[in-house]
Amino acid sequence: MSNIESVLVENRVFPPSEQAVKSARISGMEAYNALCDEANKDFEGFWARLARDNLVWTKPFTKTLDESKAPFYEWFEDGELNASANCLDKHIGTPTENKTAIVFEADDGAVTRVSYKELLGRVSQFANALKAQGIKKGDRVIIYVPMSIEGVVAMQACARIGATHSVVFGGFSAKALNERIIDAGAVAVITANYQMRGGKEMPLKAIVDEGIAMGGCDTLKTVLVFMRTPTTCGMTAGRDKTFTEVLQGQPSECRPEAVGAEHPLFILYTSGSTGKPKGVQHSTGGYLLWAKLTMDWTFDIKPSDVFWCTADIGWITGHTYVAYGPLAAGATQVIFEGIPTYPSAGRFWQMIEKHKVTVFYTAPTAIRSLIKAAEGDEKIHPARYDLTSLRILGTVGEPINPEAWMWYHKHVGGERCPIVDTWWQTETGGHMITPLPGATPTVPGSCTLPLPGIMAAIVDDLGKDLPHGDGGILVIKRPWPSMIRTIWGDPERYKASYYPPELGGKLYLAGDAAARSADRGYFRIGGRIDDVLNVSGHRLGTMEIESALVSKTDLVAEAAVVGRPDDLTGEAVCAFVVLKRSRPTGDEAKQIANELRNWVAKEIGPIAKPKDIRFGDNLPKTRSGKIMRRLLRSIAKGEAITQDTSTLENPAILEQLAEKL
Ligand code: WTA
Repeated sequence: MSNIESVLVENRVFPPSEQAVKSARISGMEAYNALCDEANKDFEGFWARLARDNLVWTKPFTKTLDESKAPFYEWFEDGELNASANCLDKHIGTPTENKTAIVFEADDGAVTRVSYKELLGRVSQFANALKAQGIKKGDRVIIYVPMSIEGVVAMQACARIGATHSVVFGGFSAKALNERIIDAGAVAVITANYQMRGGKEMPLKAIVDEGIAMGGCDTLKTVLVFMRTPTTCGMTAGRDKTFTEVLQGQPSECRPEAVGAEHPLFILYTSGSTGKPKGVQHSTGGYLLWAKLTMDWTFDIKPSDVFWCTADIGWITGHTYVAYGPLAAGATQVIFEGIPTYPSAGRFWQMIEKHKVTVFYTAPTAIRSLIKAAEGDEKIHPARYDLTSLRILGTVGEPINPEAWMWYHKHVGGERCPIVDTWWQTETGGHMITPLPGATPTVPGSCTLPLPGIMAAIVDDLGKDLPHGDGGILVIKRPWPSMIRTIWGDPERYKASYYPPELGGKLYLAGDAAARSADRGYFRIGGRIDDVLNVSGHRLGTMEIESALVSKTDLVAEAAVVGRPDDLTGEAVCAFVVLKRSRPTGDEAKQIANELRNWVAKEIGPIAKPKDIRFGDNLPKTRSGKIMRRLLRSIAKGEAITQDTSTLENPAILEQLAEKL
C-alpha cells in the first residue's frame, strides 16, 4: 500500500453527503441522538417498541427483559414467533412477494434468481422434507454446504420447523466437523457432494463421511446431499439421501412452527482463548429483531436496493447479513458462490456492475488483496468498471487500516458513498458500533459510535470507566436483544468468558482492546486482548492451533503459536515448534514445516495453517516454566529483543527461533 494517502488521513472527517442525509431513515445526528436518548430514558420501552414494530409475533410478548438469571438474560420471553415467517411469509400479499429475493451467481458466472414467493415455496418444501426425515423442533442440524440458494433454504427450513441449525464453514476439516456434530448432538447433516471454487470442484460429502467415520456421532441419523455438480459421491444406504429424493412429493406449503422468543435459532462455533471452539447459542426473537433493524439502520436498506454481503454463510456475517437480515428487510440480495480472484481479481467490481449493487459489504482483507491486485494489473482496477450504482459501502471482521479505507472510499465508492465500518462479533449477533450512513461523520479506521440502545464503554482491568483518550478494554454495560445466550452445553464457560468476576460480573467483555477519541468519543478497535487471532477476518484460537500441532505426536514435542501483523491478512499465524528429534535446518526444515502446515489444515482447516514456522531446541520459558509469549510475539514480528530476558532459562534459543526458514 504505497502510493496512497498517508496515515495522516486518520484525522480527516467525512461528513455524510446531503443526499445521504436527506434519504436516510436515521437522518442526521439529531435523529441518532434522539434514538439514543429514548434508549437511555426508557431502556425496556425502547426495545419493546422496536420489537413490536419490526417483528411479526404469533403471540405478543408481555415481558421485555428478564434480568433475574443474569448474566443469562432473556428477551421478549413469553412472546412467540417464527424466524422464517418473519423473513418470508411476511412479504406475501405485499409488493415484495414477486420481487427478487436472491440473485445467485455461481462460480462460473451462471445467474439464478428467486422471488420471495418462490423462496417461500422452496423453504416450505424443504421444511416438509426435514419433517419427513423425522427432524423436529429442538433437534440440531449441521449444515456444511457451499454458498448457494440451497444453503439459505436449508437454514430457513430449519428455522421454519424450529430445528436449531449449526452451519460449519466449508473450509473446515473432517475433524472440526466431527467435533461439532458431537458437541451439538446433531441428528442430521445437510451437505453437498462438491463445491465449486475458482473453477475447481472440491469435495464436501467425502469430508462429512470422514468426519462421521472418526466416531462418536451417535446422535446422527441422516445425511442429506445437495448434488451441486454431476459428479457422484459415496452414499451410505439408509443414512444418506439426495435432496431430489427427499423433496420428491413434498408439498410447497408448510405451516411455520411458532417458537418461544428464546428458542435457540442457531449455534455457531467460534474460537475462544482455550482449546475447544465454543458453540455460541443465539435466540430467535432478539436475534432476528437486530438482524432486521441493523439492515434498516446501518445499511438504510430501501425497496430499490441491491444488497451484497460477500461473507460465507459459515460465519456470523453470513448468518445475519445473508440468511436472515436481508430477507427480514425484504431486500434483493446477491449471493456469490466463488472467490474474489476468479476468473480475475476484477470479479467483485464486475459483479457490482452487472447486478447494479447499491450496498456492498465486505472485509478489509478482501479490500487489501484487491488493492494489491489492482495495483499490479490496471485491467482489474475498479476504475475500469461502472460502479455508479453503489451508494453505501461496509466493512467488517477486523480493523480497517486508514489506507485501505481511503482506497475503498475513492476507487470503489467514487468519494460519494459513506463507509460503514461495523464492529461486532459472533456473540453480538449483529452490528454494535458503526456509523450510520445518513448521520455519522466518518473517520478512516474508526467504527465511530454505538448503535442506539448499545451501551458500549471502555474500562480498565477492574471494570472502572476510563476517560476518552485512554486505551482500555471494550465492554457492553447493558444486555441487548441479539446477544449470545449461552455457550451450548457449557453455561459456566459462558459466564467466565463474557461476564468475568474481575470486572464485577455485570459487564459483557468483548475481548477487544479499544479507545475513544478525545474529541468525538469515536471508538477505535485495537485488536484482541486474549489468545484469539484474526487472520483475514477469521477468528482462530492460538491454543486450538497449538493443540493441533502437538497432536502430531510422532514429531512434535511442544508448540507455541502467536500472531504477527501482516499487511494482507491483518494478522498471520506464527508457530514455534520443538520437535521430538533434533532441530532441522535448511531444506529438511522447510519440508517438515510443510508437513506440519498440512497437518494443521487437516486438523482444523486450511485457514489455520501457520504462515511462519520456526524450529528451536526449546521454547523461551521463565524459570517457573511459563512460555514467554510476549517474547515470541516480538520474535515473530522480527523485532530486536529489548525486553528483560534475565528470567529466561536458555537465552541462546532466541537466536534459533529468530531464524527464518
Ligand atoms: C474483530 C465478525 C475492528 C474484533 C463479525 C472482534 C473488528 C472479532 C471489526 C469478532 C471492526 C470485527 N473493526 N475489529 N469493524 N469487526 N472485528 O466473531 O476483534 O468472527 O472481536 O465476528 O473481529 O470476530 P467474529
